[in-house]
Amino acid sequence: MKVARWLPCILVQLAAGSPCDDRYAAWVTDREAFQRKDEPRHLSGLHIVCVWKEAGRLRLEAHMNGVLEKDPLRSDLDEALSLDWGQFRNSLQGALRFTKATYEWGNFHLKQPYGIFAETGRRLRSGTEVLDAGLVLVVEGGQWFWPPVRIGYVRQLPGTPYMLETVSVQPVLFRVRGFLREEECRVIIDMAAPNMSDSDVVQTEKHYRENDTDLRTSTQARLHSSVNPLLQELDLRISNLTRVDVAHNEEVQVLRYRSKEFYAAHTDNFDPKYYENTDFIDKGHRNRLLTVFWYLTNVSKGGETLFPRADGLPPPKDMRSCERGLKVRPEVGAVILWYSLRPNGNGDPNGLHAACPVEDGEKWSANYWVWNKPRDLLISLPDADVDEEYHGEQPVTSNHVSATFRNEHPFPVYLFWKPPHQAREAFMGEISPQAAVSAQTFPLHTWHIRMGADPSSELVAVQEIADQPEQVFVLSSGSGPDEL
Ligand SMILES: *[C@@H]1O[C@H](CO)[C@@H](O)[C@H](O)[C@H]1NC(C)=O
Ligand SMILES: *[C@@H]1O[C@H](CO)[C@@H](O)[C@H](O)[C@H]1NC(C)=O
Ligand SMILES: *[C@@H]1O[C@H](CO)[C@@H](O)[C@H](O)[C@H]1NC(C)=O
Ligand SMILES: *[C@@H]1O[C@H](CO)[C@@H](O)[C@H](O)[C@H]1NC(C)=O
Repeated sequence: MKVARWLPCILVQLAAGSPCDDRYAAWVTDREAFQRKDEPRHLSGLHIVCVWKEAGRLRLEAHMNGVLEKDPLRSDLDEALSLDWGQFRNSLQGALRFTKATYEWGNFHLKQPYGIFAETGRRLRSGTEVLDAGLVLVVEGGQWFWPPVRIGYVRQLPGTPYMLETVSVQPVLFRVRGFLREEECRVIIDMAAPNMSDSDVVQTEKHYRENDTDLRTSTQARLHSSVNPLLQELDLRISNLTRVDVAHNEEVQVLRYRSKEFYAAHTDNFDPKYYENTDFIDKGHRNRLLTVFWYLTNVSKGGETLFPRADGLPPPKDMRSCERGLKVRPEVGAVILWYSLRPNGNGDPNGLHAACPVEDGEKWSANYWVWNKPRDLLISLPDADVDEEYHGEQPVTSNHVSATFRNEHPFPVYLFWKPPHQAREAFMGEISPQAAVSAQTFPLHTWHIRMGADPSSELVAVQEIADQPEQVFVLSSGSGPDEL
C-alpha cells in the first residue's frame, strides 16, 4: 500500500520537476485572467521561486512575474548558503536576472531593496530561512503583494476568520466581508462626525487642474490612532491583512458622502511626473502601495466604488462618468484592498477609481493608505541594500519621447524594451492587428518587436529611438529586422 502511494508521487516529480509543484497553485495567477492587451499579461516583478537541496547542490526553479511558465527558469545557487545575506541576495537576484532598471522612473538608487517572503508573508532574512521555506515570493518592489490568482479566488487569511476574495486582476483588487464589526463602524463614524470638513483634492489629483468641487464633493476627517484603542487594534488587523508593517500606514481618512456627492476617477499613488520639485516621494520610489477602503454603512442606492479600467476597459474619457467599469457596492463592515503599484514598484494605472454619486441615503467610508516605505523617514529599510548590476544612463526626464508603434501586419506582434547593457528584455505588451501602443521612452533606447510574448520568439523588427519628442513607427509587411 505504501509503495503504491509512493511510486506515482515519484513519477510526478520526475515529469514536472520541483518539490514545490503542488504548492504553486495558490501563488501563480492565471495568464487568461489578464485581459488587457496594452500591457504584459503577468504581474511585473513578483516571482514565485522554489529553492531546495539536491545532490549537495542548492537548486532553484522560478515562475517569473507571477504566472505559471511551461518552461520555468532553472538554476543552481552554488555555495549560496555559505554566503552572507547580502551576497546570498546578489546570488539569487543574479539567478533570476532582474535589476532595478524598470522603465518608468529612473533614480534607481532610491528604489528599496527587493523582498523575499515565505508563504505566510513573513520577510525572510537568511539563506537558511529561504531553504526552510522552500517556496518563496520574491517581490522586486520590496513589500509583500497578494497574488490575485483569478477572479473569484478565495484565500483564508491564516489564523483569522477573514476571507480574501479576488474581485479583479487588473487592478489587483480584493474584498474582505465582515472585516469590521457593525459596532466598530458606528464607533468610527461617531468619532469622526464632529470633525468633518470639506474634502480637498489632494496633491495626487492637482494635475487635473480643475474646479475642486467638480471632482470631489464629500466631507472628511482624519483620525489619529493615538486617540483610540480601537483604531490601534485596526492598525494591527490591517497590517495582518496587508502583511505590511504598521509604520507604513497613513492616518485613516473617514469620508461622508451625502445625496449626489461623489469623487471623480483618480489614482491614490503619486505620479513623479507631477512632483519633480518635491522629495517626499523619493522620485516615485516612496509611494502609496495600496488602499484598504472601509465601508462603514450600507447605501440603499448608488455610492459604489467604480474601477473604470477593470475588465480590460480603456482609460475613461470622462472621469465623472459612472457608466462603465467594475462597481463594488458598499456593504457595512466590508473592506476592499487594491494595489496602486505593481509588485515591481511602478505605478499601476488600473488602480484608477471613483466614488459614484450617492442616489439615496448616506455613505460613510474610509481610506486607509499603506505606503511602500515606512512613513517615518528615520526608520531604516528592512533589508541591507545590495549593489545592483544596472550601469546604464539614468533617464533624463526632460527629453522623454512618446513613441507609438502601429501594427499593420494581419497578426498580433509583441513589444519589448531592451534595457541598455542587459540581455533580458522587458515585455511591454501585445499590439493587435491595426492597433497601436504608445510608450514613454528616451532617445537611444532600443525596442524589439517579436512574433510572440516570449523574448525568445522571432524578431520582427528593431527600433532605436531618435531625439524627437513624438515618434510613430509603422510595422508593416515590408519590414524586416533592420527597418520598419
Ligand atoms: C495574523 O493574525 C493571526 C491571528 O491572530 C496570527 O495567527 C498570524 O500569525 C498573524 N499573521 C501575521 C503575518 O501577523
Ligand atoms: C466651481 O464649480 C462650482 C459648481 O459648478 C461653482 O459654483 C463655482 O463657482 C466654481 N468655482 C470656481 C473657482 O470656478
Ligand atoms: C477632532 O479634532 C480635534 C481638534 O483638532 C482633535 O483634538 C481631536 O483629537 C479630533 N478627534 C479625533 C477623533 O481625531
Ligand atoms: C447591509 O447590507 C448587507 C448586504 O446587502 C446585509 O446583509 C446587511 O444586513 C445590511 N446591514 C444593515 C445594517 O443594513
